[in-house]
Amino acid sequence: MSPGKAAACRALVGLQWGDEGKGKLIDWLAAEARHVARFQGGHNAGHTVVVEGRKFVLHLLPSGVINEGCRCYIGQGVALDLAALLEEIEILRQGGVDCAGRLAVSPHCALVMPHHVQLDAAREQQAAGKIGTTLRGIGPAQEDRAARCAVRLGDVLAGAARIEASVAKANCQLAGLHGAPAADAAAIAAEIAKLAEQVKPYVADVPAELEAAAGRGEAILLEGAQGALLDIEQGSYPFVTSSSCLASGSAPGLGIDLRPEVIGVAKAYVTRVGMGALPTRIEGKEAEFLVEQGAEFGATTSRRRDVGWLDIPALRHALRLNACGSIALTKLDVLGLLERVKVCVAYRLDGERLASWPPSDRMLQRCEPEWIELPGWGALPDKVEAYDELPAACRDYVAKIEELAGARVEIVSCGPERGATLWRT
Ligand code: GDP
Ligand code: IMO
Ligand code: MG
Repeated sequence: MSPGKAAACRALVGLQWGDEGKGKLIDWLAAEARHVARFQGGHNAGHTVVVEGRKFVLHLLPSGVINEGCRCYIGQGVALDLAALLEEIEILRQGGVDCAGRLAVSPHCALVMPHHVQLDAAREQQAAGKIGTTLRGIGPAQEDRAARCAVRLGDVLAGAARIEASVAKANCQLAGLHGAPAADAAAIAAEIAKLAEQVKPYVADVPAELEAAAGRGEAILLEGAQGALLDIEQGSYPFVTSSSCLASGSAPGLGIDLRPEVIGVAKAYVTRVGMGALPTRIEGKEAEFLVEQGAEFGATTSRRRDVGWLDIPALRHALRLNACGSIALTKLDVLGLLERVKVCVAYRLDGERLASWPPSDRMLQRCEPEWIELPGWGALPDKVEAYDELPAACRDYVAKIEELAGARVEIVSCGPERGATLWRT
């Protein structure tokens, strides 16, 4: 691997509906970075890292954690489920990866608690308003944050948390709207207090540590979760997640604006899990082929991902939102196996060509793609060490994407393994 000159701070963010391969790339880049930080999302994320055939799936821990020299941070923008964090730390420990002494968790993280999970499940059981969430309680927890009644880790440790108030609010909805059993406030408060004590050794001043690291000139990676099209404001609303998935979310989510160089991660096709429009959806045999070859099953919920052709209007929207001119393009090894590949170059709505991507599911449902078609490039060589070794048709595809997206493909990924990654330069 030759990652070139390591920038002082880089953010890697998803440019599609999540699952673009962010975890794989963070792990690869982390070989040259001392610090990796998560700044939003929660354990709804599932980031896969494959090292010499061993697969790790990270949900809350930054994907740099497999690199033992890396210090990992969970910033205050992350919706934190304490039980899920402790479980993840333990699974990694059993797999030989120890976080002790190199994990910093912000005390200002808002907690995801059992009543949030209950509420998420109750809502998802009703057809009206169903989103197809990961059922991790993220939406209800973020609602508490916006309503300014979230319970933060530091409040629990200080004995000042108002957990009962948060549970009482959830119970009104559970009983009143969903006819679901009430959550037990006393049991939840006791459980959270116990879990918080176990997480206490990791609690640290995340922005102060990152500021000091940046001051020493050490390379820092910021790891986005989800993707721009799931962004609460700019995604395909309402079928989105409950946080901002953009690089700009890193400043409020960490408590420090590190002005990162932004790299956007995109698959060579698109995938989506949960509900909502997929304008470039592929059906039938080609879809089955991509799902099978690309192992397109959710890293968090194991749900089958829907697949679609690369969507340039959506990609341009995501690049613009992230002020991003650099793309890491993944899964070229999968897409090229098809004989012909399509790319959506524009949308039409009511006969008019749209100038920009509509962040509204209602409009997206009605958009009709305009296509171009390119030849596939077959199986990639087992080991690709230089960009020029890729088949000409594959490089033509990349060049076409760059032209249409108005951004440079800086990194290409040709397989799930850490090593199957190349810098263009
Ligand atoms: P993330 O959420 O963005 O980290 O992505 P996920 O881990 O949820 O999903 C990406 C999946 O694609 C994982 O199974 C990765 O191991 C795999 N993957 C990543 N890059 C590539 C690639 O270039 N080729 C192939 N075949 N698989 C890849
Ligand atoms: P990573 O970080 C793909 C989707 C869910 C659902 C919507 C809302 O692995 O890319 P939520 O549980 O957040 O309330 O669900 O968002 N979703 C993801 N899809 N990858 C993810 O994360 C996702 N996190 C949430 O499927 O459609
Ligand atoms: Mg994922």
